[in-house]
Amino acid sequence: MASGFFITFEGGEGAGKSTQIERLARKMRAKKYDVLVTREPGGSPGAEAVRHVLLSGAAEPFGPKMEALLFAAARSDHVEQVIRPAVERGTIVLCDRFMDSSRVYQGVTGGLDPAFMEALEEVAINGMVPDITLIFDIDPAEGLRRATARRGAGDGPDRFEKETLDIHQRRREAFLAIAAAEPQRCIVVDASADPDTVDHVVTAAVFAALETMTPAHKRQAAPA
Ligand code: TMP
Repeated sequence: MASGFFITFEGGEGAGKSTQIERLARKMRAKKYDVLVTREPGGSPGAEAVRHVLLSGAAEPFGPKMEALLFAAARSDHVEQVIRPAVERGTIVLCDRFMDSSRVYQGVTGGLDPAFMEALEEVAINGMVPDITLIFDIDPAEGLRRATARRGAGDGPDRFEKETLDIHQRRREAFLAIAAAEPQRCIVVDASADPDTVDHVVTAAVFAALETMTPAHKRQAAPA
């Protein structure tokens, strides 16, 4: 198996993940790395079809369990159609949100049973644990301000952005708790800094990891 790498980017709203992923991808491509940028929910045709259902709020009336199942269905398709094949052919996959978003948004602030969430995660990722996860940490009031400015006039907040500041604060704490529980996988990035500083931190962390780590997928059996 070739040595691809699977890197995920997580955090609250307006933390600047997408901008930083694009900057990182440009730098990696300049160094001749084969890079694929993708995102969740979405990233494969099947998962993109589910994305609209989730972010428009169409699934919200059916409750957080229904939403969690839809995120997991989309993730499973994305993993098997896009992420695993890319990593196995030696590509570095940069993914904007992944399993930690489900743990936080559906598990913690959706109030779902942890055992249910664990089982769902296992099925959805099927061994495709990220090699590293950068958690973009920002005060949610500032993040929401940025998200609103980015959207511009006319577009309202999506299904998850529209929730109360208190819920966004709990999400921030939940992401930090994941980072504290899994320090070998997670790196917390101060996303309140200016974009060039964040870029510097992200680049240093990712290149250091690429040089020193054994990708996790090499230690996992691929599905039959
Ligand atoms: P984004 O594309 O702007 O990051 O929007 C995705 C939204 O979906 C964001 O509010 C987080 C939410 N989300 C979940 O609730 N659970 C998940 O598993 C994922 C991937 C995203």
